[in-house]
Amino acid sequence: MKKRQSSMLAILAVIVVVALAVGARMAVWSGADHAGGGSIGGPFTLVDHNGRTVTDQDFRGRWLLIYFGYTFCPDVCPTSLTLAASALDRLDPAQRKLVVPVFVTVDPVRDTPAVMKDYVGAFLPDMVGLTGSEEQVAAAMKSYKVYAAKAKSDDPASYTVDHSSILYLVGPDGRFVQHFPHGAGIEDVAAGLKKHLK
Ligand code: NI
Repeated sequence: MKKRQSSMLAILAVIVVVALAVGARMAVWSGADHAGGGSIGGPFTLVDHNGRTVTDQDFRGRWLLIYFGYTFCPDVCPTSLTLAASALDRLDPAQRKLVVPVFVTVDPVRDTPAVMKDYVGAFLPDMVGLTGSEEQVAAAMKSYKVYAAKAKSDDPASYTVDHSSILYLVGPDGRFVQHFPHGAGIEDVAAGLKKHLK
């Protein structure tokens, strides 16, 4: 009797180990799916650079080229937004009209609508700056899996923010299509846009 019990336990242990292994594999697979685009993006409610509340629904029918950053960023954001502008410049005018360049702040406390308006206007006349309450911005960052962390600073008004640097392409139906990682060149982004906009 005892022997049978212990062999039952051994079988049970094997089942548990196999189940755990399968579970771990499945977790890896679903992680890979997310990285491929499955769950990036989605609904958002933010405030545009004119102080108007906007949602993802307001952009239906247009392609969005979205970048998350902050206006006080010393170099990464200006470089990335200049690159985005240059890539958009390579599109023919008919394609270009279909795309809205969007800059979402990760620093809504300092990036008020007025600050955003000055900033985006310096890059492209049709760039939309989006800010909002800290909760609204945090929700948008979460759905786009954006990383941002305030660096420690002695002066509370003067701080930098470490943040991920990725361009996201969202389709006219509001679905995330493709991302361009930090380091992608103007031609990479232009080619990606042309491929989808054709
Ligand atoms: Ni930046």
